[in-house]
Amino acid sequence: MTPDEKKTWRAPMMAVEIDKASFDPWRIQPVRHSLVGHPLLQPAALVALGERLEVRGSIRTHGNDATAGTSFGDAPSAHPNRLSAAQTLGAIQDAKAWMSLLNVQVDPLYRVLVGDVLDGVQARVGHRDPGMCYRAGWIFVTSPRTVTPFHFDKEHNFILQVSGKKRIYVWDHTDTVVASEQARDRFHHTHGRELLAWREEFRERAHVFDLLPGEGAYMPSTSPHMVETGDEPSITISFTYYTDATRRDALLHKTHELVRRFGIAPPPVGRLPALDAVTHAGIAALVGIRGVARQVAGRPVHPGNLRFAGVPLT
Ligand SMILES: [Fe+2]
Repeated sequence: MTPDEKKTWRAPMMAVEIDKASFDPWRIQPVRHSLVGHPLLQPAALVALGERLEVRGSIRTHGNDATAGTSFGDAPSAHPNRLSAAQTLGAIQDAKAWMSLLNVQVDPLYRVLVGDVLDGVQARVGHRDPGMCYRAGWIFVTSPRTVTPFHFDKEHNFILQVSGKKRIYVWDHTDTVVASEQARDRFHHTHGRELLAWREEFRERAHVFDLLPGEGAYMPSTSPHMVETGDEPSITISFTYYTDATRRDALLHKTHELVRRFGIAPPPVGRLPALDAVTHAGIAALVGIRGVARQVAGRPVHPGNLRFAGVPLT
């Protein structure tokens, strides 16, 4: 670790510009940010972080022969990048690789950054979307002309461009042409994305962001997305989190996936709010009872509202 890295670098309280009055947590929207010059997001600092995270197995990488239609889950094994994290990050121009530094908040230096930025986000969005938890950061360092395959994630996501150019395709979380309701039910229940299937014509119905440094986008939970890097290397950071609403929706989707196994096709989450409310109340009560039973039995209970994902003691 260099002397600079031993400092505690703080991000501006409002590093992500968000209009508090108009923010809608379920609408894809452009944002701007002020993290381009942040010391922890510069190439040398990222090489050092990559070395630390590789020891913990917190690196995901694949080669630049992966395409939009490559299975997101299988990309690392189907298109392996055989270089180490330090080799890849230190020579990203020629590495022909896509590399993600996962859950950077597990690293104390970067936890401060994730906490600072998301404290600022929470101050702007909390009135519309309370209960921010499981905060996390993900840094993507990519060679020219690499692709992040088509996929979706469970968290709300502010994706911010730090250097280089990226084109991001994002589809509404309600777009059932691109991702069916059953695909979302299955994903929440098993974390499997096998019901997602890429088609080139999806590009025509996407929100498209051509991001330069200082620009970014907000995408709600389970908004499908696909990313293409331009003709130069790229550094991008995502800040993600769950809220009361994403956790509620996740529980409903999980329940619907189980219901489907009995041959019943439940109405999409959100179509019948009264039914959703009754279902959620019932299932949440059952989950609570199960948690109490596990505690009584001396078995570990999965905490529901950690401040940082993967960091139990904060
Ligand atoms: Fe993603």
